[in-house]
Amino acid sequence: MPSAPSQLAYIPFVSVENMMRLVHNFGIETVLLELTDAVEADYRRWDLFEKSPRLASHSKEGVIELMPTSDGEAFSFKYVNGHPSNTAKGFQTVAAFGLLARVDTGYPLMLTEMTLLTALRTAATSAMAARYLAPEHSRVMAMIGNGAQAEFQALAMKAVIGVEEVRLYDIDRSATEKTARNLADSGLRIVSCSSAQDAIEGAQIITTCTADKAYATILTDNMVGPGIHINAIGGDCPGKTELHKDILARAETFVEFEPQTRIEGEIQQMDASYPVTEFWKVLSGDAEGRTNARQITLFDSVGFATEDFSALRYVYSKLPGTDYFQHIDILADPDDPRDLFGMLQRAA
Ligand SMILES: NC(=O)c1ccc[n+]([C@@H]2O[C@H](COP(=O)([O-])OP(=O)(O)OC[C@H]3O[C@@H](n4cnc5c(N)ncnc54)[C@H](O)[C@@H]3O)[C@@H](O)[C@H]2O)c1
Repeated sequence: MPSAPSQLAYIPFVSVENMMRLVHNFGIETVLLELTDAVEADYRRWDLFEKSPRLASHSKEGVIELMPTSDGEAFSFKYVNGHPSNTAKGFQTVAAFGLLARVDTGYPLMLTEMTLLTALRTAATSAMAARYLAPEHSRVMAMIGNGAQAEFQALAMKAVIGVEEVRLYDIDRSATEKTARNLADSGLRIVSCSSAQDAIEGAQIITTCTADKAYATILTDNMVGPGIHINAIGGDCPGKTELHKDILARAETFVEFEPQTRIEGEIQQMDASYPVTEFWKVLSGDAEGRTNARQITLFDSVGFATEDFSALRYVYSKLPGTDYFQHIDILADPDDPRDLFGMLQRAA
């Protein structure tokens, strides 16, 4: 008879179903607010983190990435893909899972789905940046690209910034209809638009969140007036951008981790001398955020490993006292640590 696994072998696993229950129980806007604070708290201790551009395996259809980091006490990684042609086949463009581990023993602490969690943490990160970069009293947001991330982005800007109106545009009308339907009872005023130009009318925040493996031009220079914050999310791979480079020439650009964004962000279109500010410097006081009402600020977001670390630790902190997880027997942990083979034989 196989012996029962040791207690050390078990770790909590948060399935998609349990992540859905967790978010519903705490309330999505509460989760987005708390997650924004968690992501920001870790940006404030930037120096402690191990940082490297993510490992990306590119194919003609998309990319598969591993995103590791550690603060010296905990370690995390996320597995995530990006396949813009997936939705036409019935798959998600972005799907992910991730792991949190302790550094002192190297043992995992939690395994979790991260497709939902990535949408939540990306929205929280956008809201964190907008807190410091968007014009004061921003109330109107344009949301260009109404796919999987869209509602999360809109709700985070409502919860954190106080956005009241969201103007939607997508080349696929059914995506806009889906987003408008999902946000109908959110308390946001939803306006469905027939062009990107129409969507940005009166907006102080423009979020671009489209998926296309191309140098796309979702926004051209003439569309962007003074006093705008652009939250550019969809350009996050070599050869995959959303903004005309002339916009970058007029904007103050803020990035997550410069070495990764130079490869993957909108700024891949600019030469290496193009100035950018790593966002953590705004929080530490080493750099200024928005300095005047007429400025164009750009958060050139590609997604960075510390944001996933923050999200994993946030979810882990929510588990005690709940049943939003199952225990999984993920580690071979024999009673005598050196008798791994003996443990295997007992199952024969
Ligand atoms: N920066 C980050 O941290 C981060 C995190 C998650 C996703 N992303 C990126 O965000 C993008 C969106 O992700 P998703 O999961 O919502 O994808 P999705 O495929 O579900 O949605 C993308 C939407 O963009 C629309 N679109 C494509 N081209 C367009 C155009 N020219 N104008 C208007 N709309 C257009 C599509 O019709 C689709 O509805 C992807 O490129 C993804 O890689 C970035």
